[in-house]
Amino acid sequence: MGNTVIARIEQALVQHLALSGGPSAPPRLMAAMGHAVFPGGARIRPQLCLAVARACGQDAPELTDAAAVALEFMHCASLVHDDMPCFDDADTRRGLPTVHKQFGEPLALLTGDALIVAAYQTLVRAGAAHPQRLVGLLELLSEGVGAPSGIVAGQAWECETRADLGQYQRAKTGALFVAATCSGALSAGADPQPWRALGECLGEAYQVADDIRDVIGQAEALGKPVGQDLHHSRPSAATDLGLGGAIAHFESLVQATVDAVPECAAASALRQLVRQESERLVPREACEKYRQSPATEGRQAA
Ligand code: IPE
Ligand code: IPE
Ligand code: MG
Ligand code: MG
Repeated sequence: MGNTVIARIEQALVQHLALSGGPSAPPRLMAAMGHAVFPGGARIRPQLCLAVARACGQDAPELTDAAAVALEFMHCASLVHDDMPCFDDADTRRGLPTVHKQFGEPLALLTGDALIVAAYQTLVRAGAAHPQRLVGLLELLSEGVGAPSGIVAGQAWECETRADLGQYQRAKTGALFVAATCSGALSAGADPQPWRALGECLGEAYQVADDIRDVIGQAEALGKPVGQDLHHSRPSAATDLGLGGAIAHFESLVQATVDAVPECAAASALRQLVRQESERLVPREACEKYRQSPATEGRQAA
């Protein structure tokens, strides 16, 4: 994805965040919301939404932008809540203090809440011209975030005594990727169904990669603490399968993701995006290095 796409995403985020704020809003809440959204991370969910919309002809770019912004607002909200002391208790995110560290816990809770609402407001504002698409987009976003199998459900598996690793990962991370691919298609007036598998495979691969990076990565490079899955006894691909097993699982999910790209004029560009992302997440060199390692050796070897 080029700089133009990133610039388009950043501009849309600025514009829609401003529309969800305004002079009557509490200034510290506005500052905390800004801190949660900017600077961004990979912006992978909005990029995915835009790429699929483009593959589907993109006849309503403002609606596609709104769908992309709504996904990123939801993602940022989930990170703010995920970092709070009652969840992962993280001090840094994207290389900066987390929202609760900078603004305190009450504002962090409200920032997450406000971003969730802003995501829906963004869609509703842009969807007036396409009411039928809007209903589907609202549904897709809700499925990606709520119960029974969106982010909320995924985080809630951490409160159970037993959790299936795949189900946990598909809910906490995969579901919003499904919303991203399907919303891209629907915002362009296309059938979202053929795009579902791509989101499912990429989303699961993404969380498996995050689990691997939590073991072999460096906090300075990732902008967030590492070693957290072990510390909090979270279900993780690296602990369940061993580091070598997690890497093999990641590689097979990347292949499944490539295979899940529907045949279309943009297929090779989309496959390229998947390969690029997988290289960014877990470079081939690291796969080679850790392929044979059991789970516990990764952090020592890293
Ligand atoms: C982090 O997501 C949380 C996971 C679901 C793995 P990202 O890795 O997409 O975070 P940013 O947006 O790039 O910071
Ligand atoms: C994904 O889980 C986060 C959300 C679904 C919000 P993690 O807890 O593994 O993500 P990081 O490592 O904090 O980014
Ligand atoms: Mg977490
Ligand atoms: Mg976390």
